[in-house]
Amino acid sequence: MGAFRSDLLAGQVAFVTGGATGIGNGIAHVLGRHGARIAIASRKVENLERAAAEFDAAGIECFYDTCDIREPEEVERVVAGVLERFGSLDILVNNAAGNFPAPMRKISYNGFRAVVGIDLLGTYNVSKAVFEAWMKDHGGNVVNISAPFEGMGVSLQSHVAAAKAGVDSLTRTCAVEWGPLGIRVNAIAPGEIAQTEGVARFEEAVGTRAEGSNPLGFAGATDDIGNVVLFLVSEASRFVSGQVFCVDGASGVDAFKLRVEPPTEPTDESS
Ligand code: COA
Repeated sequence: MGAFRSDLLAGQVAFVTGGATGIGNGIAHVLGRHGARIAIASRKVENLERAAAEFDAAGIECFYDTCDIREPEEVERVVAGVLERFGSLDILVNNAAGNFPAPMRKISYNGFRAVVGIDLLGTYNVSKAVFEAWMKDHGGNVVNISAPFEGMGVSLQSHVAAAKAGVDSLTRTCAVEWGPLGIRVNAIAPGEIAQTEGVARFEEAVGTRAEGSNPLGFAGATDDIGNVVLFLVSEASRFVSGQVFCVDGASGVDAFKLRVEPPTEPTDESS
């Protein structure tokens, strides 16, 4: 059973970029299960069609369109489509991201540009389009999906770490500039989330499995991120803005990586 009422977001519209797969898809389902109508965008129409059928089966109303968030005109077209279909756009989750693990000296100029273009400029493009088309006049909630790298050097992730540092900065600045207009902006930095493309690519690159390498001893699920998004877009967090929340099983604050107690299995009661 969830911690929030199932009609918590009734009447609201949530746009999740990259919502056809992985963490974004999990977030969209959590928001949809709590009453929001869902809009998703991604580059691959086959992923969108599969996701739309799943939303339909779950009784969640869904709009979708293809979009490369690096292209401002495409972004503006999709945002206009969401507004035409649903008439409002209350929640934006900037989730779409590109990533491939590689040492910096082996990343081509174009490869670095591709990841920063999607992760940072894409977040800017979509935030700006949604702000101009809707939120500046009606308020709203933005949640940016970041990475738990703040203040760290990150092997194999120079492009992503640089881009996500920019996303964290954008989160704080938008919160400050847009707060007076009734817009809250926060970010979530997910740790290891099971069965996502990002973790699979990383495990393949380093040749080890990451599962459970945090103090809680288990990999997170996409719902674990979705539930924090739900809190951040709800009235329960009405005084929270401009923050980056690590949702990582305490991995990021684990200095010595020692386990002085054996991990316990999560139970239904504790989840
Ligand atoms: N290793 C090294 N370089 C890579 C690469 C890899 N695994 N994947 C892409 N690149 C380079 C390409 O070689 C190209 O550079 P070049 O023109 O100098 O050769 C550049 O990145 C752009 O590649 P392209 O295939 O045109 O990329 P794109 O713009 O369509 O998308 C990514 C690039 C990064 C988004 C792509 O790797 C991707 O789709 N990733 C999957 C999304 C993902 O991982 N999501 C989880 C996020 S945590």
